[in-house]
Amino acid sequence: MSDAKATVAAAPKPPVFDPAFQQKFAELIAWRRDVRRFRPDRVDPALIEHLLDLAQLAPSVGNSQPWRFVSVDSPAMRTKVRNNFLRCNETAAGAYQGERAALYARLKLEGIDVAPRQFALFCDRATEQGQGVGRQTMPEALDYSVVAMIETFWLAARALGLGVGWVSILDPQTVTVDLDVPPDWKFIGYLCVGWPVEEHVDPELVRHNWQDRTRAGREVLQR
Ligand SMILES: Cc1cc2nc3c(=O)[nH]c(=O)nc-3n(C[C@H](O)[C@H](O)[C@H](O)COP(=O)(O)O)c2cc1C
Repeated sequence: MSDAKATVAAAPKPPVFDPAFQQKFAELIAWRRDVRRFRPDRVDPALIEHLLDLAQLAPSVGNSQPWRFVSVDSPAMRTKVRNNFLRCNETAAGAYQGERAALYARLKLEGIDVAPRQFALFCDRATEQGQGVGRQTMPEALDYSVVAMIETFWLAARALGLGVGWVSILDPQTVTVDLDVPPDWKFIGYLCVGWPVEEHVDPELVRHNWQDRTRAGREVLQR
């Protein structure tokens, strides 16, 4: 991947994103999926390094780049995270009754047992990078910056054929303690990364009759 990296770093002039690229980019957005079913095959660490480099180009408030990655590698730590998920998911399942509860129980909502690479994502709320620009009135803009980075990472991974699954059914305090990170780091999300078992243009939750896409977010109020 060093060639691709060099291309990004050394681009001498603004590229032209021609209609063919625009079409491909639209396809990339359409075919990005939240992936929960992974092949156990290893991912070349150089590919992950490339992804991490690309993710650094994401927008962030005040150019603060507050995202902090923790690569969760050891079986013991993964077991802790998965147990955390199982506990939280049991509680979450209790919110549904009848048919919905049965459907919820059949959903697959994480790939922690198989995904070859896993990252806990934190926001360093104490970072001085950016010197406060843009976050004096809305400190949560730091958290949003981490989310913006995750979307960049997600799309870049998909372009390389890798799947990413976001797990949020976790107790943040427990993750923070288990991973022994600084107290100013706020847990944002947990990413499973690897080669997907299958590819789909529709979200898993749509396919499994949980929730369709709607137009609610497409409506634009005029004032
Ligand atoms: C903030 C956030 C948290 C999410 N948490 C979970 C999760 O805990 N488990 C899960 O299976 N999917 C999770 N997802 C994935 C969504 O369910 C998924 O994005 C949505 O159903 C649309 O599917 P798509 O990403 O394939 O388009 C999360 C997504 C986001 C943006």
